[in-house]
Amino acid sequence: MKMEEKIAKGKKYIMNTYGRLPVVLEKGEGSWVYDTDGNKYLDFVAGIAVNSLGHNSEIVNKALREQSEKLIHCSNLYWIEPQIDLAELLCMAAGMDKAFFCNSGAEANEGAIKLARKWGNGRYEIISAIQSFHGRTMGALAATGQEKYQKSFIPVLTGFKYAVFNDLESIQAQISEKTCAIMLEPIQGEGGINEPSEDFFKGVKDLCKKHNLLLIIDEVQTGVGRTGKAFGFQNYDFQPDIITLAKGLGGGVPIGAMLAKDEVAEIFQPGDHASTFGGNPLVTNVALNVCQVIFCEDFLREVQEKGQYMREQLGKLKEQFLFPGKVKGKGLMVGLDYPKDAGEIVSKMLEKNILINAIGGKTLRFVPPLNVKYEEIDIVIKALEEVFREVSA
Ligand SMILES: Cc1ncc(COP(=O)(O)O)c(C=O)c1O
Repeated sequence: MKMEEKIAKGKKYIMNTYGRLPVVLEKGEGSWVYDTDGNKYLDFVAGIAVNSLGHNSEIVNKALREQSEKLIHCSNLYWIEPQIDLAELLCMAAGMDKAFFCNSGAEANEGAIKLARKWGNGRYEIISAIQSFHGRTMGALAATGQEKYQKSFIPVLTGFKYAVFNDLESIQAQISEKTCAIMLEPIQGEGGINEPSEDFFKGVKDLCKKHNLLLIIDEVQTGVGRTGKAFGFQNYDFQPDIITLAKGLGGGVPIGAMLAKDEVAEIFQPGDHASTFGGNPLVTNVALNVCQVIFCEDFLREVQEKGQYMREQLGKLKEQFLFPGKVKGKGLMVGLDYPKDAGEIVSKMLEKNILINAIGGKTLRFVPPLNVKYEEIDIVIKALEEVFREVSA
C-alpha cells in the first residue's frame, strides 16, 4: 500500500486530534528516519525531544531486548529492580530524595499537583505561568496558562492562578493565603523557547521560602540532558522541591516521573497515588540505560557545544536575512524566531526531507537526538538557508 492510501486509512480510523504532516514513518537510524515509501529524512524533531539517543539505538534496543526476556510488567504491589536503580540515579543527579513513576508528562504533572495539594493541607492554589505548557489532562490543562488549550473544556480544574514568566512582581501579586506551590518550566517549551533571566529562579525560590510554598519545576521537555545539563533547572543554580520528567527520559519508550525532596515526598502514603503501568520493568530498564549514558559529563558537554554551534549558525542566518527576533534556548533545545509564517518553513523543509517543527506559528524549534552529528547540523543549516532564500525571493 502506498503512503497516500495509508494516510487515507488513518484519516478514516484515527481521531483527528493532531495536525499531521503527510508522512508515514516506518524506521530510523541515528538522526535519520524513513517513510513507508522509502524516503529518508533528517529528524530534528526526534518525537519532540523524545528520541534522545537517536533511532535504533543499540543502548535502547539492548535494554529492551534483555528486559523483555526477563519480565515486561509486574504490579507495583511488588518491588521492581530497574525501577529502584533508576530512582536512585535520577535522585542523585537531581539532588532529590524520592521518585514516583508514571507514563507521560501530563501524568507526572498530575502527580505533582496532587502532592502539592496534600502537602498544602488546606492551601490548594498553584501559580503557573502565562504561555506555559504542562499537558492535556484536566489538572495539567488547568496549570497550562494558555486559553487556547482550555477554552473548549471549561470549567477546568479550579485553584490555578497565572503570572507572567520571568516577572517576580507578577508572581508575587498572585500569592495568597491559599497558595501552596509555584509551578514553572525552566525554559518554556511550547510557549516559544522562552528563557528566564539568570536570577529569576533564585527570586522565585526566595518567594517560596518567604511564603512557605513548594517550587515545582516541569522538566518534561528540558530534562535528561536536553539543555546540556542533566536537568534544565541546573542552568540556574537553585533547588526545586518537586520536578517532573517524561519525553527524553526513556529514549523513546513511554515513561514519566516525579521526583521530590523527602519532606514533601513523605506526604504521599499508600493509596494516595498510583499508576498500573508506572515504572514497569521494561520502561525503567530502558530509561536506566539511557540516563547512564546521558548523565556523563562528556556527553552533556557535547550537547552544550553542539547546541552552541547550532545557535551560532542560526545567528548568522538571522543576520543574513535580517530577522528581527532571537536565536533561543540552551543545549539542543534550540529556537529561532521567524518573522512570518513559521509553518511555511516547516513545510518547505519537509520538501527537502528535513523534519523540524514550529511553535505558536512564529518560532522554529530544533530538538534533534542529543547525539546528533555536526555534519547533520550543517545539513539543516544549509537547507534552511535555501528555504529562507526561496521564501524571501
Ligand atoms: C513542559 C511540558 N510539560 C508537559 C508536557 C506534556 O507531556 P505529555 O505529552 O507526555 O503528556 C509537555 C509536552 O510537550 C511539555 O513540553
